[in-house]
Amino acid sequence: MSQSGIVYRPRRLRGTPALRRLVAETRLHPADLVLPLFVKEGLLEPSPIPSMPGQVQHTEETLGKAVAEAADAGLGGVMLFGIPERRDATGSQGDAENGILQRAIRIARHAVAEARPDSSGPRPSLVVMADTCLDEFTDHGHCGVLDSAGRVDNDATLDRYARMAVAQARAGADVVAPSGMMDGQVAMIREALDEAGFEDTVILAYSAKYASAFYGPFRDAVDSQLEGDRRTYQMDPANAREGLREADLDLAEGADMVMVKPAGSYLDILRAVADRSDVPVAAYQVSGEYSMIEAAAANGWIDRRAAALESVTAIRRAGADLILTYYALDIASWLR
Ligand code: PBG
Repeated sequence: MSQSGIVYRPRRLRGTPALRRLVAETRLHPADLVLPLFVKEGLLEPSPIPSMPGQVQHTEETLGKAVAEAADAGLGGVMLFGIPERRDATGSQGDAENGILQRAIRIARHAVAEARPDSSGPRPSLVVMADTCLDEFTDHGHCGVLDSAGRVDNDATLDRYARMAVAQARAGADVVAPSGMMDGQVAMIREALDEAGFEDTVILAYSAKYASAFYGPFRDAVDSQLEGDRRTYQMDPANAREGLREADLDLAEGADMVMVKPAGSYLDILRAVADRSDVPVAAYQVSGEYSMIEAAAANGWIDRRAAALESVTAIRRAGADLILTYYALDIASWLR
């Protein structure tokens, strides 16, 4: 024993940047990051989203550029959200062959396939994911169709999701991501995809998706029409066990990957799902998580880069294999 009587000195391994880097248990890599992107039909110029500084609603043209940029940055994927010009009760543009989201998927596919302008070879490929949900497409803003009493009709909605998923697969989506929290949505979508010949289309299930105030800025991003809330289908933030059950059900229904959402306030759920899942686990750092950091940083109250990196590292540490984050491009450039 030393004279001080201290045997163990954990600070030793924190002594230099090189030592800290060597022993870091968690690392971020661009390939594990997925960038959410919004594209709005009929838009002539990209339109900044006021509540999400730095994020925009893309035109079809700028979407292609954004996807190419994401691929060049080495990101793992993009998650596409479409904002249609016309909305109706059943969200018919959601599965229209020429609907904005299907067009966006084709644009993204094309952008990834194209050779780099400087012809240093083809772009690193990237996974094209699409949000499989009706809320951007319905005139009432709910994630499903409504029954005569104005409630979201679970089983009638499943048929709409199935058609949407097939339309997205047909347009070239590698991954469809049902985010509406309807019971049985994964099984229904799997069956429809297989029947249409899309056995290889991946399902990323939003399994434990909570009714969260942190989606606030997203509602701006998609010009949401919603009045009221989604508490009859999204989960109660008070519940943990229920989130595990949702993940188990999605796995049993054939989900290829499961997701926990939001991420930052649900790290316990993320850890528990990661511990019991044999498939990749995703987490979504949602709009409000992003905007809180942006707002605080804009006021000079926190260091933007450090806070963004810390928040995403924490999500990874809690068990996420892949992370959807509006910081994906920033992080890729910070890691370079
Ligand atoms: C539903 C969907 C939402 C988000 C992703 N998919 C909105 C909601 O459930 O209300 C939120 C993402 C974010 O806040 O960044 N289509």
